[in-house]
Amino acid sequence: MNHTPEAVAAAERWTAHNYHPLPVVIAEADGAWVTDVDGKRYLDFLAGYSALNFGHRHPDLIAAAHAQLDRVTLTSRAFIHDQFAEFCQGLTELTGKDLILPMNTGAEAVETAIKVARKWGYQVKGVRQGAAKIIVMAGNFHGRTTTIISFSDDPDAHDDFGPYTPGFVTVPYGDLDALAAAIDTDTVGVLVEPIQGEAGVLVPPHGYLAGVRELCTANNVLMLADEIQSGLGRTGETFACDHERVVPDMYIMGKALGGGIVPVSAVAADRDILGVLKPGEHGSTFGGNPLACAVGTAVIDLLKTDEFQTRSRELGEHLHTGLAKLIGAGVTAVRGRGLWAGVDIDPAVMTGREASVALMAHGVLAKDTHGTTIRLAPPLTITAEEIDWALEQFAAVLEGN
Ligand SMILES: Cc1ncc(COP(=O)(O)O)c(C=O)c1O
Repeated sequence: MNHTPEAVAAAERWTAHNYHPLPVVIAEADGAWVTDVDGKRYLDFLAGYSALNFGHRHPDLIAAAHAQLDRVTLTSRAFIHDQFAEFCQGLTELTGKDLILPMNTGAEAVETAIKVARKWGYQVKGVRQGAAKIIVMAGNFHGRTTTIISFSDDPDAHDDFGPYTPGFVTVPYGDLDALAAAIDTDTVGVLVEPIQGEAGVLVPPHGYLAGVRELCTANNVLMLADEIQSGLGRTGETFACDHERVVPDMYIMGKALGGGIVPVSAVAADRDILGVLKPGEHGSTFGGNPLACAVGTAVIDLLKTDEFQTRSRELGEHLHTGLAKLIGAGVTAVRGRGLWAGVDIDPAVMTGREASVALMAHGVLAKDTHGTTIRLAPPLTITAEEIDWALEQFAAVLEGN
């Protein structure tokens, strides 16, 4: 019996329609593969938008979670628990920063970065109260809170949710001259995705991140790197900023930090920046909870081996070589870095949604963005053979089979 239509209808019946999911109902997952309620297997080429960099149910991460479930799972930050220091220390070592502030979702980490940058602006830089300005990039995606969508230029994310939070100025992504022109004495931060994921995996021109770094340093402005999707191995380095040997003032992390098990996000910065926060000024009941920290520490241990960064680099080459062969055969352009790609489908052939649905029928799960682009971001545990198989399915879909 086919259980999928009934399960899809039930999900539609009981939820707000704030997503348009593919009609697949997943019941189990392991590594790079998921199985639906009817027993059909799919290769996961989205990996929870990079939250599953280590694959589904990585044994080390599951073991860490299980062990912690049997001990203590939540204390709130009113008390200190025995997993907290190890996680935060591990993340300072990974980022090279002095201090960590853990939260849960990516949007909360971005909100944290905004608040810290503003407070730093008033208390350290000496900006006039209420005048602090943060420069953001056109095409950005940083989450869904009211402040964050205030500076989104995506009408779906932005429109009808006002009144909007002021204090943000948008410049074109990749344009250093525009950034230089927008910075003034009230500017406290530049918030940038080192690669814009949601916008279609847009890689800025080489030298851009180094240029942002230079402008920020020269003008006493904080460089806030949103590495929520690009970080933790996805692009073939621990952080996407590493490709240009750039060290931002603040790393904003999320997604894969929770190992695909729990929502874990964090910001990392030096003491002169994160030290502006005093007790009571910012926080979260669940941020830095024992389960999150235990899983987060296991994630950091995986990243320390460099295995996943290396896999992403090497298999990313393999993926991009294969994708390049599809250009002209239903694909107009491919971008990306490591095991991360934005593939533009020729609108004359099919829409991005149609391509995602057809890929699903062929056993590959991926998702479209902005009409014609398909985002590919498989778990970093995927093999070359699995990539080849997915590329064959992609070619078949584009040929209309
Ligand atoms: C670059 C970036 N920042 C922030 C977020 C928001 O993260 P979350 O959905 O966990 O709030 C996302 C999510 O896709 C993202 O890609």
